[in-house]
Amino acid sequence: MTPKVIKTIAAMRRQSRQWQREGRSIAFVPTMGFLHEGHLSLIRKGRELADVSVVSIYVNPTQFAPGEDLDKYPRDFERDIRLCAEEQVDVVFFPSNEEMYPGGYQTFVLNESLSDKLCGRTRPTHFKGVTTIVAKLFNIVDADYALFGRKDAQQALIIRNMARDLNFRTEIIVAPIVREPDGLAMSSRNKYLSPVQRQQALVLNESLRRVEALWREGERDLDRLKKEMATAIESRPECRVDYISFVDADTLENAGDDSKKILLALAVFVGNTRLIDNTLLQR
Ligand code: PAF
Repeated sequence: MTPKVIKTIAAMRRQSRQWQREGRSIAFVPTMGFLHEGHLSLIRKGRELADVSVVSIYVNPTQFAPGEDLDKYPRDFERDIRLCAEEQVDVVFFPSNEEMYPGGYQTFVLNESLSDKLCGRTRPTHFKGVTTIVAKLFNIVDADYALFGRKDAQQALIIRNMARDLNFRTEIIVAPIVREPDGLAMSSRNKYLSPVQRQQALVLNESLRRVEALWREGERDLDRLKKEMATAIESRPECRVDYISFVDADTLENAGDDSKKILLALAVFVGNTRLIDNTLLQR
C-alpha cells in the first residue's frame, strides 16, 4: 500500500496523536531520502518493534555548510515512495524548508562535547544542524522508537546523548552498517562515485578489515595501525585521508590504554566525495 504523504507539522502531529489514542506504538526513521538498503534495514527493524512506521524525507539545509553538496544531494522522491510502499511504511513525512525553518527561525540544539570531534573537525557546523533537525522531528513525530545506522557512529552517539539530556521519550535504536556485496558501506553519496572511484573506495572497508585482523592477532600499537591504514588508502590515486581516528566509543576522546570499546572511524575523500566508515574494537 502506498504510504500516506504528510507535508505539514500540524497534520503529522494529528496523525501521531490519533495513533497514540488507538494505543499504537510508532517507529520513526529520519532520512534525507534517496533511500538505500541501509535505510530499508532500519525501516524493517522499526516495523518489528512498533505497530506503525514513519519515514521522514527532508534534506536538512542547516547540516550543510556553504560549498557542501546541499544543492546536488541526490533526490528521487518517486523511487523513495515506491520503496516505502514495498516496506509497508504507514506515513512519509515530507516537509518543506518553509515548514521546518520559517522566517525568524532562531533556535538551535548543540551537543557541546562531541560536535567538534571526528567529522566535526572538517564539518564544524554539521552536527548542530543534525541535532536541531532531529530534535524538531522528535517533537513533531513523537515516536516510541527512532532508528539510526551505525555507519554514522558519531551522529548516532550525539543523538543518543541528546535524547537522554533533553528527556525525549523516544528510544534510540542503532542498527548495524549495511554493506554492498563487495563491502562498501551503503551511502546515498556513493552515487557520486565514478566507476574507477567506486572501485578504489573499497579500500575503506578493506583497511578496516585488515586492522580488525591485526587486532585479533594482538597488535595494539595504534600509531602503527593508523600508518598502515593511511598508506593503504593513499596508495589509491583517487583517495585522500581526511581522518583516521581511534577513539573511546563513548567519549570520542583519543583511545587510551584504559578504553574498553574503541571506535576506529575514518573519513576519506574519494575524488570530491567524502565517505565515512568505522568499526568497533573491543579490548
Ligand atoms: O543521517 C541522516 O540522513 C541525517 O543526518 C538525518 C539524521 C536524517 C538528519 O537530517
